[in-house]
Amino acid sequence: MARNPGVSLKTPAEQDLMRAVGRLTADVLDMIGPHVQPGVTTDELDGICHEFIVGRQDAIPAPLDYKGFPKSICTSINHVVCHGIPGDKRLRNGDIVNVDVTVIKDGFHGDSSRMFQVGKTALQAQRLCRIAHEAMWVGIRMVQPGVRLGDIGHAIQVHAETNGYSVVREFCGHGIGRGFHEDPQVLHYGTPGTGLVLEPGMTFTIEPMVNAGKRHVRILPDGWTVVTKDHSLSAQWEHTVLVTPQGFEVLTLGVEERPPSHPG
Ligand code: MF3
Ligand code: CO
Ligand code: CO
Repeated sequence: MARNPGVSLKTPAEQDLMRAVGRLTADVLDMIGPHVQPGVTTDELDGICHEFIVGRQDAIPAPLDYKGFPKSICTSINHVVCHGIPGDKRLRNGDIVNVDVTVIKDGFHGDSSRMFQVGKTALQAQRLCRIAHEAMWVGIRMVQPGVRLGDIGHAIQVHAETNGYSVVREFCGHGIGRGFHEDPQVLHYGTPGTGLVLEPGMTFTIEPMVNAGKRHVRILPDGWTVVTKDHSLSAQWEHTVLVTPQGFEVLTLGVEERPPSHPG
């Protein structure tokens, strides 16, 4: 706590609780993946996730009633950047959709999102999703004590922009723990050598939103849905990360991202 007032350092016991809720968050995304198909409504996906979190995980979907958000997950299709509200719209062949899941268990939050391809998607949509995924990992791989948030934001921005895309500025990653959105803000753009210095025990998300066109966004009259101003496609991935003495630990790895467990 000493060096960065307002930024909590998680104790080993708290880190264990963050690991547990991070796993639950990944489990929800692993579970919902096969349901993301042409013809399903985003309300149906929301209902399945809600039931899984509340009924099977005995946990709480953090978005529900968060500042008035009406659903348990966010579903952001095509030119929707983030905070899409599940509804009766059916997914169509060729759509790309971000599903963003935040779970609360034993007082701690896990937050992660992934892009899903609906049926057969265009190569340009696939490339955008791939570059956004790489941009997130470029940021994650830099995480270690002593690195500054500006170093991370800069690296993410460079990866997106050198590939011809833009990074949304209005929304960012965030500290996470007992709070859904804690300090610090984790910008996905920035200047090397600036910003908060990372310390072991910090937990935060990295969740770059990458647009195929210009970076500018607009909020729809529902007060939540964020869309690209130019209606270009947008993609986002999110993980919750712990700063360790050696580097980083990703707390929300899906089953396909985890190293195979070995006997003994
Ligand atoms: N899960 C989002 C994030 O990554 C926040 C969603 S807030 C909500 O920070 F109210 F829209 F759910
Ligand atoms: Co987040
Ligand atoms: Co999220």
